[in-house]
Amino acid sequence: MSTEKKATLTFTDGTAAVEFPIYGGTIGPDVLDIRKLYGASGKFTFDPGFMSTAACESRITYIDGDKGELLYRGYPIEQVAVHCDFLDTCYLLLNGELPTEEQSQDFDGRVLRHTMVQEQMSRFFLGFRRDSHPMALLVACVGALAAFYHDSLDIQNPEHRFVSAIRLLAKMPTLVSMAYKYSIGQPFIYPKNSLSYTANFMRMMFGTPCEEYAVNDVLTRALDRILILHADHEQNASTSTVRLAGSSGANPFACIAAGIATLWGPAHGGANEACLVMLDDIQRQGGIEKIGEYVGKFKDKNSGVKLMGFGHRVYKNYDPRAKLMRETCHEVLAELGLENDPLFALAMKLEQIALEDDYFVKRKLYPNVDFYSGIVQKALGFPTSMFTCIFALARTVGWIAQWNEMIGEPDQKIGRPRQLYTGPVRRDIPQQFRRD
Ligand code: ACO
Repeated sequence: MSTEKKATLTFTDGTAAVEFPIYGGTIGPDVLDIRKLYGASGKFTFDPGFMSTAACESRITYIDGDKGELLYRGYPIEQVAVHCDFLDTCYLLLNGELPTEEQSQDFDGRVLRHTMVQEQMSRFFLGFRRDSHPMALLVACVGALAAFYHDSLDIQNPEHRFVSAIRLLAKMPTLVSMAYKYSIGQPFIYPKNSLSYTANFMRMMFGTPCEEYAVNDVLTRALDRILILHADHEQNASTSTVRLAGSSGANPFACIAAGIATLWGPAHGGANEACLVMLDDIQRQGGIEKIGEYVGKFKDKNSGVKLMGFGHRVYKNYDPRAKLMRETCHEVLAELGLENDPLFALAMKLEQIALEDDYFVKRKLYPNVDFYSGIVQKALGFPTSMFTCIFALARTVGWIAQWNEMIGEPDQKIGRPRQLYTGPVRRDIPQQFRRD
C-alpha cells in the first residue's frame, strides 16, 4: 500500500483537523485510512450499507463495476471460464496462482478423496420436514460439520485451515445433493471419486441406485461454468458475513454456515430463484405480450416488485458473468433440443426492452449473472428451490479464500462496527414498573 497522498478533514464545530494517509491498491479507488479518526476527533464515520467503505485489504478478486470487469487473482473471468475448470479456479482463488499439472492432480485428488460425509450426517436430515427449504438444511448441516472435525479447528494453524478448506469444498456437493434427495424422498447417492467434481455432483443429484447415471459432457461443463462464475465476488454481503464471523475466531464451518444464511436472501443469492419465478409468472400471464405491463410495475416504486436479475451494487455496466451465462444458456438449450424454450425467449426480450428503457438506462441497471443462470439450472434439471444451494456450493471456495486471507493477516482484529445512536437518553424506570 502506498502512502504518499494524504487527506485532511476539517470540522466546523471547533474540533481540530485530522490528517489521514491515503493508500493506493494495484487497481481501483484509493482509500482513506480513517482508523485514528475516533481517537483524534471523538467522531465515527457513518456508512450503513458500506457505500463508501473498504472493510478490508484483499488480493483475491477485483471488480471494476463501471467497466463490467471481474478478475480472479488478476485473470479476467472471461479467460478463467474458458481455460479453467472449477477445481483449477478453486486452486487459483485459494493459492493465488493457477496449478501446474502436478499441483492440479494433487489438489483434485485431495478434494475428490474427501467427498464422503460422516454416516451420522444422513440421520441429521431426518430431523427436518421433507418440505424444508434445502437452504435451511444446508445452513444446519454445514454448521454441524464442526462437530465432526475437531482435528482441524485450530484456526491459527495453516495446515488445519487447509484441511478444513479441502473438507468444505469436497463435502458441499455431497451435502447439497443430500438436501435435494431428502426433499424428494429418494435415497442418498454416495460420491464416486473417479468422476470429476462437477460430474460427481450431477450424479449424486440426478442418479439413483437403480440405474447407471450417464454423464453428459456439455451439461457438466455448463454446471462447471456456473460454479466458476459464482466462485468469488469480493466483499459482497455473504463474504463480508463470513469475514465478520471469522474475525471473532469462530471455526470455518460455523463461518461458512453464516455465509450460507446471508446468501439465502432474495437481494443476494436468492435472486436467481426469484428471477425464474418472475419469468414463470410473466409467462403464465401472457408471456412476451405482457412484458410492457410488467416493466411498468418494475419501474413503479409502489408496486414493491423489482426486475429480478437486474441491477447490482457494484456493476454499473453489463455484468461480465451475465454474458458468459447467456452463452451457456444457448449451449445447454441446444444440447437438450430446447432452442425454442419460451422462458429463454421471454428473458431475452425482457432484457432487450429493459436495456432500451430510460428508467433502467438512467440508473445503469444491467442484467446480472442471475438473469440467465436460473434458466440454465432449470434446463439442467435443478428445481428452483435448489438454485441458491448451487450458488452456495460455488461460493464456498470464495468464502474460504477470503476467510483464510483474513485469518492470515498479522494485524487481524475482531470486526466491531460502531453506530449513530438515536434512541432514548439515559432515564429511570417509572415507579409503576418497579418491583420494590
Ligand atoms: N428493478 C427496478 N428498479 C431497480 C432495480 C431492479 N432490479 N434495482 C435497482 N433499482 C432502482 C432502485 O429502486 C433505485 O431507484 P431510485 O434511485 O429511483 O430510488 C436505483 O435503481 C438504485 O438501486 P439501489 O437499490 O439503491 O441499488 P443497490 O445497489 O442498493 O441494490 C440490488 C442492488 C440489491 C442488487 C438491486 O439492484 C436489486 O434488488 N436487484 C434485483 C435483485 C437481484 O437481481 N439481485 C442479485 C444481485 S447479484 C448477486 O447477488 C449474485
